[in-house]
Parts: sequence; C-alpha cells; structure tokens
Amino acid sequence: MKIAVFGGAFNPIHYGHLRLAREFASRLKLDKVMLIPSSTPPHKLHAHMAADRDRLEMCRLSVKGDPLFLVSDIEIKRAGVSFTADTLDKLTELYPTAQWYLITGADMFLTLGTWHRFEDIMLRAILCTAPRDDIEGAKLREYAAVLEKRGAKCIIEDIPKTDISSTKIRQLIRSGKDIDCLVPNSVKDYIYKNSLYKNAIDNTENSDAQFIEIIRGRLTPYRFRHSLAVAEQAKHLALLYGADPKKAYAAGILHDIMKDEPKAALLQMLSDFGIILNNAQMASPSCWHAIAGAEFVRNILKIGDDDIINAVRYHTTARAGMSPLEKTIFVADFTSLDRDYPDIDEMRRRAQLGSGPAMEYALSYTIRELLNKSAVILPDAIDAYNEIIALKQKESNNYAATKSSQK
Ligand SMILES: [Fe+2]
Ligand SMILES: [Fe+2]
Repeated sequence: MKIAVFGGAFNPIHYGHLRLAREFASRLKLDKVMLIPSSTPPHKLHAHMAADRDRLEMCRLSVKGDPLFLVSDIEIKRAGVSFTADTLDKLTELYPTAQWYLITGADMFLTLGTWHRFEDIMLRAILCTAPRDDIEGAKLREYAAVLEKRGAKCIIEDIPKTDISSTKIRQLIRSGKDIDCLVPNSVKDYIYKNSLYKNAIDNTENSDAQFIEIIRGRLTPYRFRHSLAVAEQAKHLALLYGADPKKAYAAGILHDIMKDEPKAALLQMLSDFGIILNNAQMASPSCWHAIAGAEFVRNILKIGDDDIINAVRYHTTARAGMSPLEKTIFVADFTSLDRDYPDIDEMRRRAQLGSGPAMEYALSYTIRELLNKSAVILPDAIDAYNEIIALKQKESNNYAATKSSQK
C-alpha cells in the first residue's frame, strides 16, 4: 500500500491543498493520502489560528465520502510541537507494510535537511513536493540532489499551481467576501456556522467582540461561558472597586485564555516566551495558564495595557499591591454567575461589601484547600493574604485608638 502523509496547519483546508493531494495521488499511484492537521505550535500561536478541533473537523468535512483520503488526529492528540519524525514512527508502527510518501510545500521542502531527526524521516518516507514556478523548480531540484546524496529519495512534480491560500481565505472572510470555489461547501458552511476567522484581531483596533471570537476558538464551550460570566461580573464589580469597567470586561474575557491548553503546550509556550518558572511555580500547574495567558495577551494580542496583563497574570494567585482592576478580576473569577461551590453565597455577599472582605475570604478558602491537599502555596498568595490581614489590623488599631481618645 502506498500512502502519502500530507501535514499542515490547514487553517482552513482549501481546494489548493486537495488538488495538490489528488494530483500526487494520480501521478504516484497512491492508494491513500493521509491529511494530518498539526497541533498549533506555541511559537506559531496567533490570533487567527482556528482551534485544533475546528481545523481537524474541516479536514474531515472536506474529504468526506472520498475513499482516497484518511484524516488523522495523531498530531493534534499528541499536542505540543509536532515533529514529523515522531508522526512517521507512529504511522509505520500502525501500517508496517506501507510505502510512505511525505508531501510538503515547496518552502518547507527547502528546509527538510534541518528537520528534527531528518535521517529517520528520509529512511521512512519518499519526499515529495511541487514548485510554484520554474525558478523554484530549479532550486528544489538542486536541493533534492543534496538530500539524495545523504540517502533521501525525492520526487519533484510539476503540478500546475493554484493561487488559493489560507491567508487569502481568512482575509476574504474578514472583509465579508465570498469564499465559494475556494473551499468545499461543507467547509464553508462549517466556517460560517462557527463564525471562524470573522473577527480575527488585527492588532490595531481591539474590541470585546474580537476578544470573544478569539476565546471562542481556544476554549471549550464550558470555559467559554465561564469567561463571559466573569467578564459580566467584572464589569459590575469594577464600579464598586474603582476600576475601569471597560478594561474589567476585556480582562474578564481574556483571563482564562490559556486554560484549555495541554500542560506540555503551556510549558513549551512559557519557555518560548523566555519565562523561567521557579520551583514553587513548577510544582503548581494551576498557575501556568495565568502566566502563559498574560504573555499571550502581551505578545500575541499585542495588548500594551499593563493593568490588563497583570489582571490576567495574577487572577489565580493574587499578589500584594494589587490594582483595583486586578482585585476585580480575582473576585469576579470567584463570584461569576456560573460558579457553584459550598461557600458561594457568602463569597458573593462579601464581594458586594468590597474587595478587601472578598479577597480575604477567597484567599483563606484557597489557602485552606491547598493545605488540605498538601499542595504548594505560592508566595504571591501568602503575600496577598498577609497584606489584607495587616491592613485590617491597622484599621482596627486605628479605630480602637480613636475610640479611646474620645473617652
Ligand atoms: Fe483561571
Ligand atoms: Fe476563571
């Protein structure tokens, strides 16, 4: 059996991809072409990348009923950075007698020699690509000769190019234009039904609607609803705590933006952003999404407002010296409408009294829970708790002093 692996972001998959795959299949007499959408590598995270599950579903829809194609979730399931060598290891294990081909875009082909475990890749698969023009064709053949000297087998096919690209499709959707003829109808319907790519952020004009679209693509439906509920509650509490309700709403939407990322992907992302976790943070995975979320907001969404960034950063641990906005998000996350835990009524009552009583209650609750579980308590949480208690003591001493001076 001759099977070609055709991997990519497929963001979204389009007729250009499908034509290329079909053309290779007929020229090389392939039995199957396996589409493998990649999981989003952290260094390639960007606001207009559709969620892994959406890209996978669009691949499935695009080839539904066509016996030539298989669609594999192998890379999406593995999460984190996808290495082709690992994928080929797994596939040769699953189909030990198959002859494998690897289809790559021309620009990817020209870097193949530097790929992780290239020697294993070339042993497992015949490397295939198609030039976009004659000049590129010459370049590809020259490079293929270099790879062949290392033992690789390469096939360069002159397949007429299409000028369809995923970037162009996303742009058309954003500007409300038609994408008929560029993607199969089933993919088009899926894109519109799920509002994909419509409001992708353009970094110049941020708005809540854009943020909502971004989290919709990154979060599970449960977490998505939670984030909207926190945003609503934050808008309400901001007025009580002296924060800007607009910023509170935006920070509420974004606070859990990284919450549904697998742990391995979060660690990779933090290291890509140059963040080194200390031992306590390393032992406290529940804080990773907040640290990574703050970096995503700053570096990917290009939000320059430090107050919003810090509200995301400290929404799980709190810290000493929090701004009104940071306190707002911390308390909103505990008291949003979707929350349900034994002390919720008391917590909501205190939230109405002010950020101090609410923070004290929330921090004591969290610290007690962590102690019961023998889990790490991060210094930021203890600093925040101590600050509140010290302030309370100071206020009650002042009150006592005023009382006694009045006697
Ligand atoms: Fe969170
Ligand atoms: Fe949350």
